Amino acid sequence: MAQITLTNADIAFDCSDDTVLRAALRQGIGFAYECNVGSCGTCRFELIEGEVVHDRADAPGWTERHRQRKQYLGCQARPLTDCRIKAILRDHYKSRHKPVRTEARLFETEDLTHDIREFRFRLADAAPFLAGQYALLYVPGVIGARAYSMCNVTDDGAEWHFQIKRAPGGAATAQLFDTLAVGDAIRVDGPYGMAYLREDIPRDVLCLAGGSGLSPMISIARQFAQSERLADRTLHFIYGGRGARDICGEPMLQSLPGFGTRIFYHPAVSAPESDPETSWSGRVGFVHAVAQEMHGEKLPGFEVYYAGPPAMAQAVQKMLYEMKVPAAQAHFDQFY
Ligand SMILES: Cc1cc2nc3c(=O)[nH]c(=O)nc-3n(C[C@H](O)[C@H](O)[C@H](O)COP(=O)(O)OP(=O)(O)OC[C@H]3O[C@@H](n4cnc5c(N)ncnc54)[C@H](O)[C@@H]3O)c2cc1C
Ligand code: FES
Repeated sequence: MAQITLTNADIAFDCSDDTVLRAALRQGIGFAYECNVGSCGTCRFELIEGEVVHDRADAPGWTERHRQRKQYLGCQARPLTDCRIKAILRDHYKSRHKPVRTEARLFETEDLTHDIREFRFRLADAAPFLAGQYALLYVPGVIGARAYSMCNVTDDGAEWHFQIKRAPGGAATAQLFDTLAVGDAIRVDGPYGMAYLREDIPRDVLCLAGGSGLSPMISIARQFAQSERLADRTLHFIYGGRGARDICGEPMLQSLPGFGTRIFYHPAVSAPESDPETSWSGRVGFVHAVAQEMHGEKLPGFEVYYAGPPAMAQAVQKMLYEMKVPAAQAHFDQFY
């Protein structure tokens, strides 16, 4: 067991068989982070004294310059000795439900489109989460964990459901789609993430999802539907895919109380020609453009949640900035 001392906050915590970031979050410390998989760089800290080793040597958020400056990624660094470090801490990052490591057994799957499948797991140790959060899945045969967002809502956290899009040539998704069978168990760790539904903020909600971003937005819509504090609010859900065969999600929203009166679903495709076999008479365009066209000047009145591939997230971010939506009203976890 190693002890990590945060020199800039006069806090020390134990780190045993864990990364520095996750050990801190498990102990209620608000260590800054976002993706948890070595890509964003938000969790970078400075090593003042001691020795650490990185899980992932090729992490995109860690460059030669960082190495030379003795900067490491909290989500990838494991201590080899007691350490003294300097890191960004904010109350905002403290976990409402502290992340736990447990085993999850797959009990059901459902295909949602040609390349999106819902995987439903039952946990050995129940772990509650907030709508919009994600977990790390250790897929057998794959090096490193992958992050996936839960799509269900839960009080006790006995089940975690994930809507996962098959990535072309992807290591984890190939195993999940082609090898993992009902009855199999995997290791999971969570919940993580800051893009959860703010039930204490009485604003209308705008959910923007593209492709793999469906899962956390469905969870947010489900929690919104049952939230007493948001009972007089409206939710607009814009879902984008390339062609008609990529569009899904409506049946899940249709089953919610308030669908059609205060919960609205707006699908859009960006490249209808990519699916010549299915006719499409709905909206054509990218989700950020559809949101702008639909709500225009009214956008700053919304609490906005979004998830999807990096290009979509960047386009949404730019549009929200141009439309003067305050940054504090926009919530997303970048998917890498
Ligand atoms: C916060 C977050 C939430 C996400 N939620 C969803 C979701 O709900 N649904 C969904 O379909 N996708 C989601 N993703 C994307 C998902 O995590 C995977 O990137 C995607 O499924 C492709 O994985 P793959 O292994 O099949 O593809 P690959 O191309 O084999 O792997 C791609 C990803 O794995 C990372 N990676 C590679 N090696 C390692 C390693 N050693 N350790 C850790 N990471 C490594 C890469 O940086 C890249 O991000 C989310 C990503 C993030 C960051
Ligand atoms: S690189 Fe560690 S949280 Fe993103």
